[in-house]
Amino acid sequence: MDLFEAIKSRRSVRTFDGKPLSKEDERAIMDYAANQDNPYGIQIEWRLLDARKEGLSSPVIVGTDTYIAGKMRRVPHAEEAFGYEFEKIVLYAQSLGVGTTWIAGTMNRQAFEKAMDLASDEVMPCVSPLGYSAKKMSLREVMMRKAIRADSRSDFKDIFFDGTFDRPLLPGAAGKLSSVLEAVRLAPSAVNKQPWRMVVCPDAVHFYERHGRSYVSDDGWDLQKIDMGIALCHFELSANECGFDTGLEVSDPGIKAEEGMSYIASCTYKEKT
Ligand SMILES: Cc1cc2nc3c(=O)[nH]c(=O)nc-3n(C[C@H](O)[C@H](O)[C@H](O)COP(=O)(O)O)c2cc1C
Repeated sequence: MDLFEAIKSRRSVRTFDGKPLSKEDERAIMDYAANQDNPYGIQIEWRLLDARKEGLSSPVIVGTDTYIAGKMRRVPHAEEAFGYEFEKIVLYAQSLGVGTTWIAGTMNRQAFEKAMDLASDEVMPCVSPLGYSAKKMSLREVMMRKAIRADSRSDFKDIFFDGTFDRPLLPGAAGKLSSVLEAVRLAPSAVNKQPWRMVVCPDAVHFYERHGRSYVSDDGWDLQKIDMGIALCHFELSANECGFDTGLEVSDPGIKAEEGMSYIASCTYKEKT
C-alpha cells in the first residue's frame, strides 16, 4: 500500500453507496487483520459482522450492512494497542478503496457486543463500517463534520516540541522527520480532539496525552488513549517507510510537562544503515 497516500486521502465515510463489500475486499481485509499485531503484544480478535443478521446499527452510518469489530482482554495498555492495530487495518482498507469510520459511541453497543460474544473480562472498544463511499455525503454527515471541524487539524508547532515542552518545533526544523510528523498530525481521533503532544529528541520521540474534560470513564477506560495508539501507529509506519528503524518503549524520560498531560510511550528511531 502507498502509506502516505492512504493517510492523506482517508476521511471518515458515513454515507455509503449501498453496494455490498466485495468478497475479494472482505477476504483481503480480514486476512490482513488476522496477521496484524501491536507493540504491546496484546492479542485482538477481529470479526466481520452482518448488521442485518445481527440487528446492528449506527445512527450516523447509511448505505452499508458490513462492519468490522475487534475484541480483546481488558488489560493495561489495551486502549493504545487497539488504536495502533485498528488504524493499520483502517489504512489498509483505505488503500483498497474501502471506506471506514472509527466508531466508539454512535452504535447500539449492546447488540454489537452480543454479536462479538463478548466475555466479562473482554472489551470491544470500537467498530467500523466497511463499504464504498457514496458520491454525496448525507446532510447529517455534512453537519456532523462541520460541528467537529473534521477537516481541520492542529498546527504543527502546537503539537510537536523540540527536546522540551518550552520549545515548539517548526516544520522546517524537523529535518528528515518532518513528513513522519506530518503523518501523525493528520491522524483521526475521537471528536477530532487530537490529544497527542510529542517531544522530539535526537534518538526518540516521546508521546504525551493532553487530557480533555472527562477523558476517563468511571470504570477507568480512557478513550483518548486509543487516539494515542493511532498516533503511535502513524509515527512508526511512516518512520519505517522513510528509512528509520523504530522501537516502542514505555519508559518515562522525566521531561517536565504541564498539568493535564501524561506520558504514554516513546518511539526510538534510527536511520537504517
Ligand atoms: C477512537 C475514535 C472514536 C470515534 N468515535 C466516533 C463515533 O462514535 N461516531 C462517529 O461518527 N465518529 C467517530 N469517530 C470519528 C472522528 O469523529 C473522526 O475521525 C474525526 O472527526 C476526524 O475526521 P476524519 O476521520 O474524517 O479525518 C471516532 C474516531 C476515533 C479515532
